[in-house]
Amino acid sequence: MSQSTAAPPAPDILSPEYVADPYPFHKVLRDHHPATYHEATQSWLISRYADCAHAFKSEAFSSRNYDWQLEPIHGRTILQMQGKEHATHRSLLNPFFRGKGLEAFMPTIRQNAAELITAAVQRAGSEMMDELSGRGRVDLVAEFTTWFPIRVMVDMLGLPKSDHDRFHRWYHSVIAHLNNLAGDPAVTAAADQTREELREYMLPIIRERRNGDGDDLLSRLCRAEVDGEQMSDEEIKAFVSLLLVAGGETTDKAIASMMTNLIKNPDQLEAVRADRSLVDAAIAETLRYTGPVHMIMRQTEQPVEIEGTTIPEGATCILMLASANRDERHFSDPDRFDIHRSDLDVARAFSGAANHVQFILGRHFCVGSLLARTEMQVALELVLDSMPNLRFQEGFVPKEVGLYTRSVESLLVEFDVPAKA
Ligand code: HEM
Repeated sequence: MSQSTAAPPAPDILSPEYVADPYPFHKVLRDHHPATYHEATQSWLISRYADCAHAFKSEAFSSRNYDWQLEPIHGRTILQMQGKEHATHRSLLNPFFRGKGLEAFMPTIRQNAAELITAAVQRAGSEMMDELSGRGRVDLVAEFTTWFPIRVMVDMLGLPKSDHDRFHRWYHSVIAHLNNLAGDPAVTAAADQTREELREYMLPIIRERRNGDGDDLLSRLCRAEVDGEQMSDEEIKAFVSLLLVAGGETTDKAIASMMTNLIKNPDQLEAVRADRSLVDAAIAETLRYTGPVHMIMRQTEQPVEIEGTTIPEGATCILMLASANRDERHFSDPDRFDIHRSDLDVARAFSGAANHVQFILGRHFCVGSLLARTEMQVALELVLDSMPNLRFQEGFVPKEVGLYTRSVESLLVEFDVPAKA
């Protein structure tokens, strides 16, 4: 690309300034360096909406980056597959995550959300320093969001509820690994240990489920046939390992961001409280404005030209979803959270025809988009109903953390608790 001498330098995505607040740097990338090589990660950064959307649908980009990015942790998963193999594995998963399959899990989803929120509200009520103050205080991240989606996933798989804590720990170590672009060896070692522990835990359960007649997701995967053959124990273990992270972390962070966005914009919070038909708009706008997945990698299978820059074959590319979703070439006033915006297609926001890229687009479009939406709906409605006059605790300033995936690290809220009779 020809750049004017006045163009600011390309930001370093590993710098503390970028990690603290990436959004202004995304604009610099989009305006001046829409396809640029980042030395430290040896990757090309692609930051405009049109280029990201195109890449996800183009044969010139593959997901072979997962061979080194995720396979060492999960084993080989659907993310790396292509063609017929990919289509077969998608068809194994799809029935659980849409229509009647998804409806069947509604009681599980509702029960998990209700248990956690009820416990948090009760605890807050009983711990009130000054009962007359009528204020309940909770950290919605620590007490609700980091538990809710992972518990739903464990229950969908039919794994023991008594192991919720264990999965929660594993899940955090894998997430840390994914965010470890800077390569901290302690994080890698912890993720290696998780892989071994999860393997040891899962393999005997998988063997047992093969001969059972259970209706849970894991039992059905164990008995399913791909091209006339059952999947191997290792393949099923890899599937489970991926689902725990793909279905846990993303939604956990999305719920935390949604609540943060709404509390920061009290008029919009009140609008949703009064008119629940706006819930989907609040979810979709959160996915656009502060979607949990900031980056997705791809590999070029041939030389590719983007905005006048040629990226060679075999290069690793970082598709910057968070930047694409705030591209002023695609959304007006993109740095404003606005559930009423007219340029975001809410009706299609959870489908492959979406006009944001938080679930990407194309063949690997998120399998769990409708489950994520359902969990976010249940979470938002329950919080609105259980926590009147929801606001931040005095002095609390939400702080986003994370490079690859991102959300607030804690969410200290306060709400009115009815006085005890
Ligand atoms: C707000 C929540 C979510 C977000 C933002 C999200 C985002 C994504 C993204 C960006 C991808 C594409 C990855 C790639 O191709 O490199 C993806 C794929 C995937 N997601 Fe989600 N996801 C969410 C929730 C879920 C849930 C709840 C599940 C539960 C099953 C799930 C399961 C999957 C699976 C299995 C894939 C791989 C699909 C394939 O390769 O064909 N996701 N998701």
